[in-house]
Amino acid sequence: MSLSPAPRGHRLSPAPPSPSSNAGRAGTTPSLLAPGVEHDPYPLYRSLRESFPLVRDELLGAWLLSRYSDVRAALGDARLGPPVTGRPGPGHRGLLEPVLRAAAERTAYVLARRVSGRREVDLVAEFSAWLPAAAAVAALGLPWEDAARVREWCRTGSARADGVHPDLGALLRPHVARRRARPGADLLSALCGARTDGQALSDDTVTALAGTLLTGGGEATALALASFLANLLDHPAQLDLVRARPGLIPGAWAESLRRDPPTPVVLRRASAPIALGGTTLPTGSVVACLIGSAGRDPFRFADPDRYDIFRADPAHLAFGAGAHFCPAATLAGLAAECGLRALLDAMPGLRLAPGFRPAPRGIIARAPRLLLVRPC
Ligand code: HEM
Repeated sequence: MSLSPAPRGHRLSPAPPSPSSNAGRAGTTPSLLAPGVEHDPYPLYRSLRESFPLVRDELLGAWLLSRYSDVRAALGDARLGPPVTGRPGPGHRGLLEPVLRAAAERTAYVLARRVSGRREVDLVAEFSAWLPAAAAVAALGLPWEDAARVREWCRTGSARADGVHPDLGALLRPHVARRRARPGADLLSALCGARTDGQALSDDTVTALAGTLLTGGGEATALALASFLANLLDHPAQLDLVRARPGLIPGAWAESLRRDPPTPVVLRRASAPIALGGTTLPTGSVVACLIGSAGRDPFRFADPDRYDIFRADPAHLAFGAGAHFCPAATLAGLAAECGLRALLDAMPGLRLAPGFRPAPRGIIARAPRLLLVRPC
């Protein structure tokens, strides 16, 4: 893999930067963990793209890749795999989608109605943080009370990378046994009854799939939903258009994922030596693919800081690229679409609370943590 050439107009540092050089802006060491980056990473991203397309972040212990074309190529490079592997994908999509859509619609409707009569609401605490976990709980046919525990596991990231937190297994096993004995109309029953190559799925597989569905991408979806709502509420003219023409929702969602991806950093580990930009990264090197920077690369996107639901080609990398592309991208989009529709239906005059502006924060997981709105 070779680094993309400096696109025309990229201002390169006077001497071409050595990939191992750590000289960043004004003599500082570029690092994602530097003060202030959590609140505003964009000056750092710009400086990396322009002058240090591959640089070692000593504090993070990883090589930073920041240009769109390099990030995309790295995500598709088979020698750069995720540091943790073995997460089961939410397979059987044909089976999952209709049930999840119905559950997401119902859950979003209930959550939206619950807050619609209030004077002022924090949509993060009352809506976006709940919807993914509660919709998955509803789709699987688990009791509503479990949504709080599942939400907490998503929020604290205590679900393990393989999708089966030990407490989650303990929560699911009795339900699996009950569905085996007496199937219902829910997704857990459907998984228990599903067959691959004529064989029923084992209890472990059902538990792993259900576990992935419950916590696998719940936090990412919750953060992405918060940013999506924030972007639209912060651009009332575009929100009005989406309200009038719901067919614009998928484009508005994709544009939000480009501009404000919930997981702006995807880590990869080299399984073999990789020659990059004049240096060879040894096996085991960790590369941080800066999706958040790639989405703001002016050599890929015109006026990249602008939120524009009519952008012809959002081509975001928020779900990764290549072999490890997120298998639940469509499912995450369901939460966004059902969530927004339910909110606009319950609160036709929804708008930001007077004087409030959303302020995203976070490096590895990024979104506004507060979204104050007036329901009408
Ligand atoms: C907006 C929400 C989401 C975002 C932004 C997102 C983002 C991503 C990204 C960037 C990757 C690739 C990681 C890599 O290349 O190393 C990924 C992989 C994955 N995601 Fe998601 N995800 C979301 C929702 C979900 C949901 C809801 C689930 C589960 C129901 C899920 C399950 C997975 C799994 C199992 C993988 C691993 C795929 C593999 O390694 O082959 N994600 N996701």
